[in-house]
Amino acid sequence: EEVDVVVVGSCMTDLVSQAPRLPKAGETIHGHKFFIGFGGKGANQCVQSARLGAKTAMVCKVGKDSFGSNYIQNFKDNSVCTAFVTQTEEAMTGAASIIVNDAGENAIVIVAGANMLLGDRDLVQARSVLEKAKVMLCQLEISSHISLQALRMARQCNVKTVFNPAPAIPDLHSDFYKESDVFCCNESEAELLTGARVSSVDDAGHAGLELLNRGCAAVIITMGTQGCVVLQASNPEPKHIPTTKVTPVDTTGAGDSFLGALAFYMAHYPSMPLEEMSKRANLVAAVSVQSVGTQTSYPFKKDLPAELFMK
Ligand code: RIB
Ligand code: NA
Repeated sequence: EEVDVVVVGSCMTDLVSQAPRLPKAGETIHGHKFFIGFGGKGANQCVQSARLGAKTAMVCKVGKDSFGSNYIQNFKDNSVCTAFVTQTEEAMTGAASIIVNDAGENAIVIVAGANMLLGDRDLVQARSVLEKAKVMLCQLEISSHISLQALRMARQCNVKTVFNPAPAIPDLHSDFYKESDVFCCNESEAELLTGARVSSVDDAGHAGLELLNRGCAAVIITMGTQGCVVLQASNPEPKHIPTTKVTPVDTTGAGDSFLGALAFYMAHYPSMPLEEMSKRANLVAAVSVQSVGTQTSYPFKKDLPAELFMK
């Protein structure tokens, strides 16, 4: 089977509590709502891409438990190919404990579990689907060695690579930059990677240039309400791409919605300028912040204006 977008990444069961604010250390507070959802940065990105119309495959590992089995069904429900999703008895399906406050902000603890057992053998097995894909996406919720291997393998096969260094680690291997066609992170990840403060669009331009100089073909720094900043090695002048103003309900996974949309555009409209793809991906992500949850809030093609799908 041939697919457009392959994600080598994570699946997490999201255990979400909505509360007026985030608790302090040692504090107990009352929340007003609890729900369980399908999350994990890798899977979120894959599902958003699929909902826009990309043919997708997920390469990941879940536990041999009900969370894992439910997750596989969720992929099927979203038309994601599960031929390279495996279940292990050695660890539990990844879980994310998430608290969302009334401003739509969140705090998250992830226990990666089975995700960390995705190994070289799984990647070798997925080579058949990867080599025919148009875009490969990965993040840092699996072992960083596997993410780097996936980027290298995709590059060898002339598949466009998108790397999302999330959650960020301070001592990221220099090859991650060199193997990335698009290196896409948010402000706090850019801060951690560059050691410089990133709060304004100007700061993002500077941080983006620093990341670009490490060897990526393009850098995108996502900035929430401020949209994003795009830089390309072929044209390193930082470009600010603003977004529409919306009232946020839950921003969890908005970055993943952006990345999934970006991968869709790269696969379906390969000659579209990266700035235009980013502008459209901003608009897809803006829809996701207006309702609760991660995947539950991701729009389908049919819910979006037709302009987002024009050449
Ligand atoms: O990026 C959002 C995701 O981060 C959540 O779905 C949660 O699972 C964590 O991995
Ligand atoms: Na949301």
